[in-house]
Amino acid sequence: MAIKHFLTLLDLSPAELASLITRAIELKAELAAGGHNEPFKNKVLGMVFEKSSTRTRVSFEAGMAQFGGHAIFLSPRDTQLGRGEPVEDSARVLSAMVDVIMIRTFGHEIIERFAKHSKVPVINALTDDYHPCQLLADIQTYVEHRGSIQGKTVSWIGDGNNMCQSYINAAKQFDFELRIACPKGFEPNAELVAANKDRVSIIRDPKLAAKDSHLLVTDVWASMGQEDQQAQRIQAFSGFQINEELLSYADSKALYMHCLPAHREEEISTGLMERPDTVIWEEAENRLHAQKALMELLLTQ
Ligand code: CP
Ligand code: NVA
Repeated sequence: MAIKHFLTLLDLSPAELASLITRAIELKAELAAGGHNEPFKNKVLGMVFEKSSTRTRVSFEAGMAQFGGHAIFLSPRDTQLGRGEPVEDSARVLSAMVDVIMIRTFGHEIIERFAKHSKVPVINALTDDYHPCQLLADIQTYVEHRGSIQGKTVSWIGDGNNMCQSYINAAKQFDFELRIACPKGFEPNAELVAANKDRVSIIRDPKLAAKDSHLLVTDVWASMGQEDQQAQRIQAFSGFQINEELLSYADSKALYMHCLPAHREEEISTGLMERPDTVIWEEAENRLHAQKALMELLLTQ
């Protein structure tokens, strides 16, 4: 049987994604009830991080430990990957020793090349183009608070980055409408937008995009690897902040999300970050539960 990778949300069917979300909610409840479920005894997760991380690292490592397995953190500073050993060679070697591998890297083609030569499932833990694991947590959070996201309207406010592009894939897989408000020159991949034009539209004005929406989502204006563009981006993104005013245009039961880390008073107001009813912290926590459900799906087929 072909190895199942998770490089984008399109690697799982809508039905698989729906049952993954249900399973994540179930695993969360089991953990809260003190249940012990160790299906991954003696299994090992390799974690390759070429960019920084707090949530992704801790959620994968904790998830694997809770499942009775083990995780190995691999940074390019300490491995031969950082000294130029080819991705293809690293994939062959690592996948002969561990049971599943997650990678956070730059170009999306790096993870595709890695997966092509891996004997075990490869999970995208963020590339320059996509961050599908975060979408699992976001959808789980929406479902827990508001029920199915099918047929709802989601507004992306900000950069057409890896998170935005994963929202485009999510619109297709979970069947919702996505409106993207981004400044000129910061659009997501045009081909990806065109391929999903039945449900994805670019609406420049954040207020128009937010109108009657059920979920507002944003992310940093300068992603990892774009630090040198920070000042220029602060100028370009002025007016693309989610705050109480923008939220007032949305549906009265609208949620707002941010994958974190957040820059207060840039893409999101301090007020929204500190609201007692925000779901942002639960969204972060759900990385743990959603990725446990993901590893279960990839490893137990
Ligand atoms: N949201 C997210 O992926 O966070 P980290 O960069 O901390 O992993
Ligand atoms: N777009 C951000 C997401 C961080 C989780 C980045 O790539 O840095």
